[in-house]
Amino acid sequence: MALSLNLGTPVNTALFLYILYSVQRIIFPTKSTPATIPHEFKAGYSWLPKSHPPAVLYKIYTPKTLEPFNGRDKERILLAINGVVFDVTAGRNFYGPDGMYGNFAGRDASRGMAKQSFDLEMLTPIDQPLDKLDDLRQDEIDNMRGWIDHFSSKYIICGKLVENDSV
Ligand code: HEM
Repeated sequence: MALSLNLGTPVNTALFLYILYSVQRIIFPTKSTPATIPHEFKAGYSWLPKSHPPAVLYKIYTPKTLEPFNGRDKERILLAINGVVFDVTAGRNFYGPDGMYGNFAGRDASRGMAKQSFDLEMLTPIDQPLDKLDDLRQDEIDNMRGWIDHFSSKYIICGKLVENDSV
């Protein structure tokens, strides 16, 4: 049976106009980018953040330059375990001024992590050489490594801790 299009019927006319309209939309799409780029969610989707999130730089820290990142003086909180500096800002509840592990913030936490203690005597004063950890037992070293694994899977490694006078 031959298929013929009779534009005389209203349905066919409507379909024909719709097809014409659809084809012209494909060939000449309406501009989807508004004149001004939205920065805030108002009437619809906005795709630009107000400001770029701060980039995390890998840096060399010393006990003295790490200390200000103690959760009181700056927004960021850092701590080091066995020379690896972690950004633990996301764990503010743990490491902030009122956190259970606040002592570790801005400090070399290696010994405390190894010995499972947050006592102040686990910390080496910031003007002294780094804790060599050479008196630790193997199980304490393993415990510290376990914490490094835990922190590596949870926080960003953002630097290395070296002696005060080496930079
Ligand atoms: C009374 C003893 C302790 C209790 C009740 C306790 C409780 C907790 C709890 C509930 C968490 C959160 C676990 C999670 O949500 O993943 C945690 C994490 C942690 N605890 Fe303890 N803890 C105790 C002792 C210690 C000690 C002595 C240390 C010393 C090294 C320690 C170091 C940590 C660390 C480093 C974390 C991980 C925090 C993080 O993920 O950033 N805890 N503890």
